[in-house]
Amino acid sequence: MKYSIFCFAATCATCLGAGLDVDLTSTDSIKAAAKVVAKNLMNYYTGDQPGQIPGILPGPPPAGPYYWWEGGALWGTMVDYWHYTGDTTYNNVTESSLIFQAGAPQNSYMPPNWTASLGNDDQGFWGMSAMLAAETNFQNPPAADPQWLALAQAVFNTQAARWDTEYCNGGMRWQIPLSNNGYDYKNTIANGIFFNLGARLARYTGNATYADWAVKTYNWCQAVGYIDQDFNIFDGGHVEHNCTDINKQQFSYIAAIFLQGAGFMYNYTDGAAEWDERVRGLTNQTFNYFFPNGIAVETSCELAEGVQCTTDMLSFKGYAHRFLAQTTQMAPIVHDTIMAVLRTSAQAAVKSCNADGTCGFRWTTGSYDGITGAGQEMNALGAMLSMLIDEPGVSRPFTNSSGGTSQGNPDAGSDPDVFQPTKPVTGRDKAGAGILTALVLACMVSLMVWMSVGK
Ligand SMILES: *[C@@H]1O[C@H](CO)[C@@H](O)[C@H](O)[C@H]1NC(C)=O
Ligand SMILES: *[C@@H]1O[C@H](CO)[C@@H](O)[C@H](O)[C@H]1NC(C)=O
Ligand SMILES: *[C@@H]1O[C@H](CO)[C@@H](O)[C@H](O)[C@H]1NC(C)=O
Ligand SMILES: *[C@@H]1O[C@H](CO)[C@@H](O)[C@H](O)[C@H]1NC(C)=O
Ligand SMILES: *[C@@H]1O[C@H](CO)[C@@H](O)[C@H](O)[C@H]1NC(C)=O
Ligand SMILES: *[C@@H]1O[C@H](CO)[C@@H](O)[C@H](O)[C@H]1NC(C)=O
Ligand SMILES: *[C@@H]1O[C@H](CO)[C@@H](O)[C@H](O)[C@H]1NC(C)=O
Repeated sequence: MKYSIFCFAATCATCLGAGLDVDLTSTDSIKAAAKVVAKNLMNYYTGDQPGQIPGILPGPPPAGPYYWWEGGALWGTMVDYWHYTGDTTYNNVTESSLIFQAGAPQNSYMPPNWTASLGNDDQGFWGMSAMLAAETNFQNPPAADPQWLALAQAVFNTQAARWDTEYCNGGMRWQIPLSNNGYDYKNTIANGIFFNLGARLARYTGNATYADWAVKTYNWCQAVGYIDQDFNIFDGGHVEHNCTDINKQQFSYIAAIFLQGAGFMYNYTDGAAEWDERVRGLTNQTFNYFFPNGIAVETSCELAEGVQCTTDMLSFKGYAHRFLAQTTQMAPIVHDTIMAVLRTSAQAAVKSCNADGTCGFRWTTGSYDGITGAGQEMNALGAMLSMLIDEPGVSRPFTNSSGGTSQGNPDAGSDPDVFQPTKPVTGRDKAGAGILTALVLACMVSLMVWMSVGK
């Protein structure tokens, strides 16, 4: 009797037809469905076609909907795709994209093409994907190319040099070039990624300097009130207000980036009480705020009356799933709590997908909502991949003493930073520099005007 009811339910689910068929209790089923969604996701990538720029998704606006950083996020997703499924189909394009956009010769993910929207978070997203490649032993580039660990170190080093004690008692600004809109804003996404990279580099290399920076950054975010006593993480504040004009919006990827970083610090410190408390507190509040009924909701813009998320925001839930899953490897104390929620959420995520792997944005409706894009594909893929975290074949993040093969360079990125003042200039240089600055500023302002139309 039970059996026939089960059969009926199963048959009916298939015969209704539209949905992506996936059984989250079956590794093979998850991998098969992930393959369909990954293929659909990669249809958005046209950088390998003639006349297109390798490594980026169509954009930035108005050329297409996606800013530069989302390419970095895509390749991190594809590193995880390979890591969880073993499918190498996209490995070469992932490797070459992460190298092409590294920004030679400095190789710190600040290519001159994209300075008009270059925030520390944009740079940092590429850095986190390089870090993930090191931690998973993703295929290493040829020796003549920059290496994963060194790329992550370069991002970290350039950001440490931007720590600013002039305002708000510390912290990093959002934007890198001073002419960018948002240079006066100090926010949690920029500082959170710096914290996250510091924690992961500390564990990977065993070098305590990274951990010191991670501690300092987390403490600063708390001291200015960006992280409150209930572990809410607010967006940021402005230097002209000493960072006290806090914008209280919250986003799921920021919470996940801090929680993942806290997980690495918990592991690096062998379970220190301070990080134990933070890991548990962040887990609790992340779920309270972003997973009502166990299903991921981008609370600040996915409103009952309609989805008001920007293209950027449409992609946050997938990072949240992936980073929370990795947290369970570093902090087994929250493993069961996290996985129970991610499972409920992943179940809802797959219901938002059609059989061809086209996935929607809202996961709470039980069906496809018609809101598609590369972000939504990354969301559903991230949710599915996270279900494979406990598979025996899925490695824990490697370190340089436990099999990690990526070559590092502690000094990477420390050549003159194009965005920082360098040597004192002579009178003659100054005149030239003034004109150059005026030209660069004029260019940037006009770029910003057209870019901000879409942002
Ligand atoms: C990936 O690149 C390597 C080295 O160039 C090559 O040997 C291999 O065939 C490529 N794999 C695929 C799937 O294209
Ligand atoms: C920079 O833009 C030029 C012109 O579109 C393009 O040829 C080049 O590949 C781009 N480089 C990067 C790193 O995006
Ligand atoms: C790991 O990296 C650290 C810091 O760069 C270095 O001191 C240590 O020797 C490395 N360990 C191995 C096994 O390579
Ligand atoms: C540790 O990291 C710091 C910061 O990047 C670097 O200056 C130092 O050389 C590193 N030490 C070792 C032993 O690699
Ligand atoms: C700015 O805020 C910090 C704490 O975040 C405080 O220590 C400092 O005194 C404040 N500075 C001014 C000028 O109010
Ligand atoms: C650190 O991570 C490793 C690998 O997942 C795990 O075995 C170990 O228990 C973790 N350490 C702590 C203190 O939980
Ligand atoms: C979880 O968060 C809620 C809301 O902030 C709080 O009331 C509760 O004490 C927290 N529980 C734990 C175990 O931290």
